Amino acid sequence: MSDAAPLLQVERLHKRFPVAGRRGALLHAVDDVTLSIGAGESVGLVGESGCGKSTLVRLLARLLDTTEGRIVFAGKDLAATPAARFARTPERALIQMVFQDPTDSLNPRFTARDTIAEPLALLTGLRGAEARARVDEVAQQVGLPLALLDRYPHQLSGGQKARVGIARALSVKPQLLILDEPTAALDVSVQAVVLQLLERLRGELGLSYLFVSHDLNVVRLLTDRVAVMYLGKLVEQGPSEQVFRAPLHPYTQALVSAIPGQGPRIRLSGEVASPIDPPAQACRFHGRCPRGEDRCGREAPPLQRIGVREVACHFAA
Ligand SMILES: Nc1ncnc2c1ncn2[C@@H]1O[C@H](COP(=O)(O)OP(=O)(O)OP(=O)(O)O)[C@@H](O)[C@H]1O
Ligand code: SF4
Ligand SMILES: [Mg+2]
Repeated sequence: MSDAAPLLQVERLHKRFPVAGRRGALLHAVDDVTLSIGAGESVGLVGESGCGKSTLVRLLARLLDTTEGRIVFAGKDLAATPAARFARTPERALIQMVFQDPTDSLNPRFTARDTIAEPLALLTGLRGAEARARVDEVAQQVGLPLALLDRYPHQLSGGQKARVGIARALSVKPQLLILDEPTAALDVSVQAVVLQLLERLRGELGLSYLFVSHDLNVVRLLTDRVAVMYLGKLVEQGPSEQVFRAPLHPYTQALVSAIPGQGPRIRLSGEVASPIDPPAQACRFHGRCPRGEDRCGREAPPLQRIGVREVACHFAA
């Protein structure tokens, strides 16, 4: 990333959910996350199920209100605007999200054209011939034949629906595209095609991506930097090439060891700690960490800079 101010700067972001049936208890889904994304940069977000990836991206897409922290986009703190009001601000167009399952996220009563045109009408006021022209343009960009634009979701293949979802997000000319497992619901053969499309679009349109995926090989190939989450916390971030080649945090080491061909697999034992009111004075990975010591149960490791990376472990340096 260059020295210029990042497109998105997330500072000490928190999201705590009340726990049903347990008065006063809070689930710490996102805990003190600081992260930046540069213009044109692709950043991956990885970590096991339930670690807070979707909550974090929903906060950044302003679909969810924050508990604490700042989300500075193009110099403006968006966290100050309630999510419900954000839907009507000009920044809404600049940050768009592509959802996991195109079948779930497309309205069954909307044709592909209606779906792609909907944010145009809401956010840009474009209607009539101008909107039609913009829909045609963006359909061509994503490789969706114009003849398919009058079809409903059930008349489209998985790959075609994925293209409709991407076209919808692109229609309003965003600067940042947030992709939460964008290909997880697709057949393997279609996944590769959609990923290639996303990579081409990023280059052609100069977009920034925040890319959530369980497929570490995909993250390695498609991202410049990667952020690793564990139980709501960022535990490591840095250039993807470095993080995947030589992970520094014990959790990242275990995660990367699961990629076929990466040497011996590190199997974690022990239970994942509860995200409900976790002890502030302990490392979240303590109890499962192959390297943990007594100190890790008494002192939470801060995220520290090591070269161009940041790592939260007492012993990473
Ligand atoms: N609306 C909500 N209310 C209460 N708890 C929630 C809510 N949304 C998420 N959580 C909790 O927050 C934590 C993080 O969930 P999240 O969906 O962000 O994880 P994730 O990393 O995206 O997981 P996956 O990889 O399975 O998609 C989980 O413990 C989840 O149960
Ligand atoms: S601080 Fe301790 S428990 Fe946490 S990751 Fe490092 S060694 Fe493991
Ligand atoms: Mg998720």
